[in-house]
Amino acid sequence: MASQQEEPSVPIGDSGADPVGEEPQYIEAFGHKYHHSGRIFVPFDEKEQQRMEVQHKLIRHCLNGALTATRIPLNVERILDLGSGTGVWPLEMAVRYPQAEILGIDISRIQRTNAVPPNVRFAIDNVENPWPISASSVDFLHARHLAGGVTDWPSLFKQAYEKLKPGGLLEWTEQAIQIFDFDGNFGDAELCPSFLNLWRDLSKQNNIDFTPSPNGPVWLVDAGFENIAQRTEIIPLGEWAQDEKLRTRQTLMNKISFEHFENHCGLLFTKCGWTKERFDAVAPTFFSELREASQKPYTMM
Ligand SMILES: C[S@@+](CC[C@H](N)C(=O)[O-])C[C@H]1O[C@@H](n2cnc3c(N)ncnc32)[C@H](O)[C@@H]1O
Repeated sequence: MASQQEEPSVPIGDSGADPVGEEPQYIEAFGHKYHHSGRIFVPFDEKEQQRMEVQHKLIRHCLNGALTATRIPLNVERILDLGSGTGVWPLEMAVRYPQAEILGIDISRIQRTNAVPPNVRFAIDNVENPWPISASSVDFLHARHLAGGVTDWPSLFKQAYEKLKPGGLLEWTEQAIQIFDFDGNFGDAELCPSFLNLWRDLSKQNNIDFTPSPNGPVWLVDAGFENIAQRTEIIPLGEWAQDEKLRTRQTLMNKISFEHFENHCGLLFTKCGWTKERFDAVAPTFFSELREASQKPYTMM
């Protein structure tokens, strides 16, 4: 394992693709702000930051209040979080693991700046670049909801393997952009096929995969990982869930899907020549299909 001194120190604001003090640059689409590279299909504006916080609540709910699905030893030394967003996860992890050094990397400088514990640092960079951390030095690597910003997943996991200590752990979470019927009345067919097929078509045109998890096992094995386990959580949408636990998830998921639906559409559609008016003409069909009384839509995390 490399020593502490060999490691480049990356204080907040030192590795910026979006340097502090300079006029922020961004691409605007459907009223949202996207990273100026045009390669990150999730925005970074206030509305998206609110969505990220709701999503964090949803995931904690799925994990029965925990911050990880993986059992991590309490004396863990070094944690790396890829695509930290507002930083809510590393900041909460820092309280639970006060002895751990936690580094979060994100391409946008949107991390909370108040009450940052001394054991958390953020680096501003594309996670597809080399990370500012030594090989074989990370105990636990966390990547959550990076889809829409990563083009070369196999290389990402190869770097993850290289940076982890032998025996280190990786936890990766994504949500599938697929919607199924809980009662199975619609067989294996997905709900809302017309919009989702359009979405997939535009994603393909942009060479971006919003549902990478089915390929995960192959990429992970190729990178050298062992003992791979998959956990799937059902997330209801619409108005059908009765069970208290599922109802809580449904409320949070509806907030994400209905109030923040456009967040992940703006750049994707604009880059393929769609205007907001054209988009507004097709989006309501998606919403009304989701609220169809005969269906019990759910997605998977
Ligand atoms: C949907 S948010 C999830 C935030 C956080 N992981 C969470 O679960 O709360 C995705 C975050 O990943 C970042 N991101 C996406 N692609 C990235 C990339 N290639 N390099 C660095 N950050 C990236 C975005 O800037 C955004 O903050």
